[in-house]
Amino acid sequence: MNRVDCLLLLLLLAMSLNKTTFGKVYRHDIHSKLLKHHRIWRGMSSNTGNNYGGWLLYIKNNNDASIVCGASYYSPLLVITSANCIHPYTYDTNMSVEPTARSKNSEDYFSLIDTIYFPPGFKYLDQYMDIALVRLVKPIKGKLLEFISLCDRPLPDNTKLMSVGWGFDSMDVQPMSLEPTNSSVIVQNLKQCLATYTNSISSGTIFCATQPPDKRNCRYDGGCPVVYKNKLCGIVSWGPLCRDTRYPSLYTNITIMRSWIKDIEGKVLSREQVKRRN
Ligand SMILES: *[C@@H]1O[C@H](CO)[C@@H](O)[C@H](O)[C@H]1NC(C)=O
Ligand SMILES: *[C@@H]1O[C@H](CO)[C@@H](O)[C@H](O)[C@H]1NC(C)=O
Ligand SMILES: *[C@@H]1O[C@H](CO)[C@@H](O)[C@H](O)[C@H]1NC(C)=O
Repeated sequence: MNRVDCLLLLLLLAMSLNKTTFGKVYRHDIHSKLLKHHRIWRGMSSNTGNNYGGWLLYIKNNNDASIVCGASYYSPLLVITSANCIHPYTYDTNMSVEPTARSKNSEDYFSLIDTIYFPPGFKYLDQYMDIALVRLVKPIKGKLLEFISLCDRPLPDNTKLMSVGWGFDSMDVQPMSLEPTNSSVIVQNLKQCLATYTNSISSGTIFCATQPPDKRNCRYDGGCPVVYKNKLCGIVSWGPLCRDTRYPSLYTNITIMRSWIKDIEGKVLSREQVKRRN
């Protein structure tokens, strides 16, 4: 895609993101003291409608208005994404996190990034512990926004999961879509999966899933979520792009990273309490 096409696409994207979305509308914006269980996504039909529940976010580089990572809203000040995806922007000060579910007059529905937490075992360009928690400067506004809860059950091989994305990491396959779209991916046996790769893959915290054979139906954008029964079970990790769907895709296993997430969440909450007392 050339530069002009790309700018046009970003413009169209900005316009479509400002469209009014219908669905359940909460009475209040999210504030930093809100307990997250009051606002958990419970599925497409029960909450804010066909917009991925209001928890699907994207991270934007404001310097060139490009979307760099997908992300999930986890608690008022915390967002979950892929460590490999966000790592190149660690010291970039002009990055914002924005919602996909918007209502009218939503120009100020975003937050800048305060801190990015990486797990101690993570190394850039490796799949091990490929997850980052982004701490927001302030909660993201919006009466359609909700949080997603974490996966809490084993997922046997052949389980069908929902993967969501725009295609911003596979623009050589087709232009990215203006609205997020979903596709089904199927959990694959980890040993079988690793055997398809000739290069070595760090397998400690990942699971594999097969993409639909038609690469136009493949959704594999860095940091984007994979969902099962309305819970966040995986994050798109560093892996093969949609160009060659014979290779299974790699996802960070949220169940394995749960305790690290809870640990950071505890630290962020206690920092907030100290700030409020002073
Ligand atoms: C961030 O990007 C916006 C849009 O390009 C620009 O107007 C603004 O000055 C930038 N802010 C900083 C702090 O670089
Ligand atoms: C992820 O890890 C958990 C805990 O080890 C395991 O039960 C689960 O099957 C793994 N795979 C997926 C796809 O969640
Ligand atoms: C997934 O996409 C299909 C169209 O490809 C759509 O009919 C369906 O509603 C979507 N599912 C969800 C859960 O959004």
